[in-house]
Amino acid sequence: MTAVATTESVLHPEIARRRTFAIISHPDAGKTTLTEKLLLYGGALHLAGTVKARRAERHATSDWLAMEKERGISVTTSVLQFDYHGFRVNLLDTPGHEDFSEDTYRTLVAADCAIMLLDNRKGVEERTRQLYAVCRRRKLPIFAFVNKCDRVGRDPLELLGLLEEELELPVAAAMWPVMQNDTLQAVVDRRRQIVHWFQRGGDHGASRVAVETSPLSHEDIAKHTSQAVADRTFEELALLDEAGNALDDAAITAGELVPLYFGSALTNFGVEPFLDDFLRLAPVPAARSVEGGIVEPSDEAFTGFVFKIQANMDPRHRDRIAFVRLTSGHFEAGLQVTLGRTGKPLRLNLPQQFLAQERTHVEEAWAGDVIGVHDRGNLRIGDALFTGKPVVFDDIPRFPPEHFSRISVRDPLRRPHLDTGLRQLAEEGAVQLFRADPQASVPDIVGAVGQLQFDVLLHRLQHEYGVPAKLESLGMSHARWISGTKEAMQKATSMRDRMVLYDQKGQTVLLFANAFAMRWAERESEGLVLREFPE
Ligand code: G4P
Repeated sequence: MTAVATTESVLHPEIARRRTFAIISHPDAGKTTLTEKLLLYGGALHLAGTVKARRAERHATSDWLAMEKERGISVTTSVLQFDYHGFRVNLLDTPGHEDFSEDTYRTLVAADCAIMLLDNRKGVEERTRQLYAVCRRRKLPIFAFVNKCDRVGRDPLELLGLLEEELELPVAAAMWPVMQNDTLQAVVDRRRQIVHWFQRGGDHGASRVAVETSPLSHEDIAKHTSQAVADRTFEELALLDEAGNALDDAAITAGELVPLYFGSALTNFGVEPFLDDFLRLAPVPAARSVEGGIVEPSDEAFTGFVFKIQANMDPRHRDRIAFVRLTSGHFEAGLQVTLGRTGKPLRLNLPQQFLAQERTHVEEAWAGDVIGVHDRGNLRIGDALFTGKPVVFDDIPRFPPEHFSRISVRDPLRRPHLDTGLRQLAEEGAVQLFRADPQASVPDIVGAVGQLQFDVLLHRLQHEYGVPAKLESLGMSHARWISGTKEAMQKATSMRDRMVLYDQKGQTVLLFANAFAMRWAERESEGLVLREFPE
């Protein structure tokens, strides 16, 4: 589903003040910490440390049942909404760690831009690279924040170079760090030509820190630090001015230039200047391409799509929360919409929004917002909801699974229950289904982006469908959808180092045990097209 930039001038002020984004990063880069600090600065949390403490509890156990109990937390932290300096911020949570799943990717479909959070010692790491690839395909504007600058990391100029190489997009430093003895003293706002000096709070970043600003001057930096630090900072700034990319606000908002920021989420250094600049430059809610046209956020009729479905806590009721991104119009509690896939009416009674850890009922929402709708199994990923003329959103992309297992039941009499369970859970996006035999009537292979999806699958099959199922790993980790000439397809599918599967639409998928085998196939693939994603 492609996002299309919107012109702010035509928007209702309520829509124009909305900013909807996700943070993408590799585990441990500091996403939880930064999320907390954004909430802290947004006034939605009074003392940082709460989200993190809860997360620690959740991760302290590998028992899925215990995690299920804690599920309330992950639900409530799925979308966080707060106000900041006149903006209405929707921060979409993309879980990292072992929570990693397709949900994480899909959440990006609902975002209008992303913050790319990097560890100052590591630069762009694997998970970030994967998430960035998704953002790039959707042309989402990216804002890069180099975290952990309170401790020694790579040289900032080196990081800038690395980033440009990795992203294949021009990068421009919006803020530049002033370092003394390898510790961050201040950041220079290059556009405004001011310096933010930071004080450490006495409580290790649990509350906001005071920021002192001064106009950018060599003398002032020398006074605060040393002559040598001022010299080096000014040399670096001169280099950025001469050899670096110009800071072009319009290009940033359009996603053609990546602005770079430095700071430390832990100590709050740089968080506030970053947030101010980010919200100023982040795009307004984007228009969305639909079959036969475009939905503009300014369109009067309500439209929205389901991008994520989360099973709820109580397994006795198959009730779930469907997350809906509003793409146009205005929502009021009790609004009756049409569910595009069935053509049936659906009343959206008191859906939920999430403010920090609190769930609140929504009386009103606008294009750009995300609401959580209670669902008794009617909704699916990609469903369109609307009040005016019917819209069909482009498909929400599926993502290549990295784990594949054969699924079976011990008791053959339970097989129909397994099939129902698998079908419904696949519709929710909880797992992807494949067949090893294209003629088979039911799928027997499940694929997942994250291993945890399998734990959830088994748990839910047992508790919601009464089917104790068994998984047996195929030992394959890389998948490619293929097409091409008959001969090429035949050759590709007959090699012994790979496995052939068929997805739900009957498309052929090749599985490889490792990246090497996959690259080998790509190299010798004359007449064959290998795609990372299904068509
Ligand atoms: P994640 O959600 O991206 O996985 O990262 P998280 O915020 O949990 O942070 C991972 C680790 O990095 C934590 O340390 C956290 O305190 C630390 N961290 C986050 N931001 C900064 C920063 O700006 N500077 C420094 N120096 N460290 C930072 P931990 O030891 O794993 O956990 P904890 O014991 O601190 O809770």
